[in-house]
Amino acid sequence: MVNQYTGITNYYDLLMMSGYYDYHNIAKEVYSIIGNNCEIIELGTGTGLLAEKYIEIDPNCQFTGVDITPSFLEIAKKRLGNKAKLIVADALTME
Ligand SMILES: C[S@@+](CC[C@H](N)C(=O)[O-])C[C@H]1O[C@@H](n2cnc3c(N)ncnc32)[C@H](O)[C@@H]1O
Repeated sequence: MVNQYTGITNYYDLLMMSGYYDYHNIAKEVYSIIGNNCEIIELGTGTGLLAEKYIEIDPNCQFTGVDITPSFLEIAKKRLGNKAKLIVADALTME
């Protein structure tokens, strides 16, 4: 299966951070629903843009990001450091 995301790795962040989504407000919405000190698993976490904002709002949350695209998670790892656990996996078939 061809992964369409691999080919756009180098400009995905530029595209998404040019006003396409308001990640800060999305993270605030999530926070208003689930509250603090939660465990979050984001399926399709990509380069960690939403994770970064959520962890800023709630530094105590235990964040796990799952994504099928290794090159995206490499960027997420640089962005998030040890603030999140990152797993390369297909969300449709993972254990
Ligand atoms: C549109 S991007 C969104 C990324 C991130 N959540 C964001 O808002 O920037 C979709 C993400 O889902 C991932 N993805 C697509 N199918 C997947 C699957 N079956 N299992 C895990 N990740 C998947 C892609 O690799 C990509 O990183």
